[in-house]
Amino acid sequence: MTQDELKQAVAKAAIDYVVPETIIGVGTGSTANFFIDELAKIKHTIEGTVASSEASAARLKGHGIPVLDLNSVAEISVYIDGADEADAGCHLVKGGGGALTREKIVLAVAKKFVCIADESKKVGVLGKFPLPIEVIPMARSYVAREIVKRFGGEPVLRDGFTTDNGNVILDVHGLQITDPVALENELNGIVGVVTNGLFAARKADVILYGTPTGVEKVE
Ligand code: 5RP
Repeated sequence: MTQDELKQAVAKAAIDYVVPETIIGVGTGSTANFFIDELAKIKHTIEGTVASSEASAARLKGHGIPVLDLNSVAEISVYIDGADEADAGCHLVKGGGGALTREKIVLAVAKKFVCIADESKKVGVLGKFPLPIEVIPMARSYVAREIVKRFGGEPVLRDGFTTDNGNVILDVHGLQITDPVALENELNGIVGVVTNGLFAARKADVILYGTPTGVEKVE
């Protein structure tokens, strides 16, 4: 099976977690796009969605799926999104698509987080995938220096990329993330950091991995 076929299989499986007549949080990326395409088939069963990026909002609207402003929504039943890396404890690295901040905000409102990923995203220790950090543009050099000083690693500015919030991304290479909750909190304490791509304090409740032998569920 190709990687896209594995992503498509988990996107299909995630439909079982869609709660009828509620608002669904929708993530960003190629796996989330497959999920949006599946969601379109049952769009009449849900009240609407909240999107974690302009790109996902456009795809949802393209299918005629209602997209609501988060400020008008009190509760999201489930948030469904992909990941760049996941460890055995369901801690994630996200933000490869640069949507990490809105993803974390939509997740904060959701009761349950279902992560969907092909099995290549499964790792022993997080950090092989460069950790994305959204930064206020004027703080980028300061933040990069602080990261090197406090945690090591090599922050690299994502070239030519601006987030939906008008900020920049530093991708930090070479970290071995053995305590993801602590690192998530410490990075967020650096002035100028909007948020970082560790989803550890609030981790996935369920991960559905696409494998050649079927969908594997970890919780
Ligand atoms: C976007 C994300 C994505 O979930 C992550 O990059 C995985 O993407 P894909 O499904 O394309 O492999 O965090 O900010």
